[in-house]
Amino acid sequence: MTTTKDRSSRVGALEVHPFAHPQGCRSYLVGDPESRQALAIDPHLDSVGELGATLQRLGWSLRYVVDTHTHADHPSGAAKLAGRFSATRVAHPAGDHQGVKRHPADGDVLHLGDQTITVYHAPGHTPDHLVLLTPDALFSGDTLLIGAVARTDFLGGDAGQLFDSIHRVIAGLRDEIVLYPGHDYQGRTSSTIGHEKATNPWLRIEDREEFHRALTANPPRRPANMDDLLRLNREGTDIATSISAAAAVDRVRQGGAVSVFDVRTAVEVAEEHIAGARHVPLEEIVARADEIRAIPAPRLILCRSGKRAEMARQKLESLGIAGLTVMEGGILGFAAAGGKTEKGKPQMSLERQVRIAAGGLVVVGAALGWLVHPVFFGLSAFVGAGLMFAGITDTCAMGLLIAKMPWNRRPAAAVAPAAGGCAATAPAGGCAATAPAGGCAATPPGA
Ligand SMILES: [Fe+2]
Repeated sequence: MTTTKDRSSRVGALEVHPFAHPQGCRSYLVGDPESRQALAIDPHLDSVGELGATLQRLGWSLRYVVDTHTHADHPSGAAKLAGRFSATRVAHPAGDHQGVKRHPADGDVLHLGDQTITVYHAPGHTPDHLVLLTPDALFSGDTLLIGAVARTDFLGGDAGQLFDSIHRVIAGLRDEIVLYPGHDYQGRTSSTIGHEKATNPWLRIEDREEFHRALTANPPRRPANMDDLLRLNREGTDIATSISAAAAVDRVRQGGAVSVFDVRTAVEVAEEHIAGARHVPLEEIVARADEIRAIPAPRLILCRSGKRAEMARQKLESLGIAGLTVMEGGILGFAAAGGKTEKGKPQMSLERQVRIAAGGLVVVGAALGWLVHPVFFGLSAFVGAGLMFAGITDTCAMGLLIAKMPWNRRPAAAVAPAAGGCAATAPAGGCAATAPAGGCAATPPGA
């Protein structure tokens, strides 16, 4: 699964282009093909490039960018997308987002040509939550999800208010209305109100107190980096491209290791690493780009000294991945700043292997040059020049080559377990409360 555009659909007079993110977030472009006017809903920062390319391909002009609520689990791309296309940002005033020009009241209407989209205030997941209703589709953000409802345990959320919002705005809609949620953690793209009425266990709870009790009984853990994300999403600022080692130490201490990925070689990681950081060697970052997208932003990139991390950042940014920050000074700086690292079993370091290999080649070159032919002195000169280049640029081709030798290869998971495992894409830590409290019970008590 990639941060890609799902198949578009014609829903009534409007065209809907959904974009899925490996974290389970869903963004939408909704356009009127007649007027060629469009609005974007909940653009993920990683999806801004894809949304922009779709707008340009279709020749649509972007009128509005709507954040249905203050996102706590991913960086919003609303400010960036709206700035790029001179569109009006829309959000509820309770969100207090900087740069928002339109604060709709309950029942306000947005226009795309002759088409209308009604905005309703639907608090519960957060106090500032909006849902958008076209004549044929509901963009529910994090209220009603497919087979689930949103969690309400942070940011002033309220389970009783969510019950009220669902029953005031959503439950009475026509069965044929297509449901486009703000999240889905199982790769589903849409549902219908009728299907949810028939199958969603949360819609079967008719008693407000029972709904409240079930939803608040067993709250999932908080999203990773929630405080950072709230600040970024409220202030609309960019994520820093690099941070100092001291700042990185603070972030990791606060639980941010889940967002660190280490682009060094396996042998370097085995020697010393940050517990919980994910290992994605530099030469594998393109092939494993989706895995990196699934790491909660802001993502910290780590190498030995910062050089390879910057190369990785630039490469990943060219693939449309945003929210990447280089850890200045790499693991050397991190350890020097007091960061806690874990060291592996003593073994011959990569640097020592390079010294032995380079020295050996110089000796062999000199011996062959003396015994066989002077041209072999060139081998020694070549190795010497390579070492000088490595010293100046802090990149060592010989080291990278030696790191690929069989004795230096080991399964990445054995030296650095993937941070969070499936947690980055699972409901826990996201915005959904996929099942009522009661452990594995898929349906609520009394349903
Ligand atoms: Fe949310």
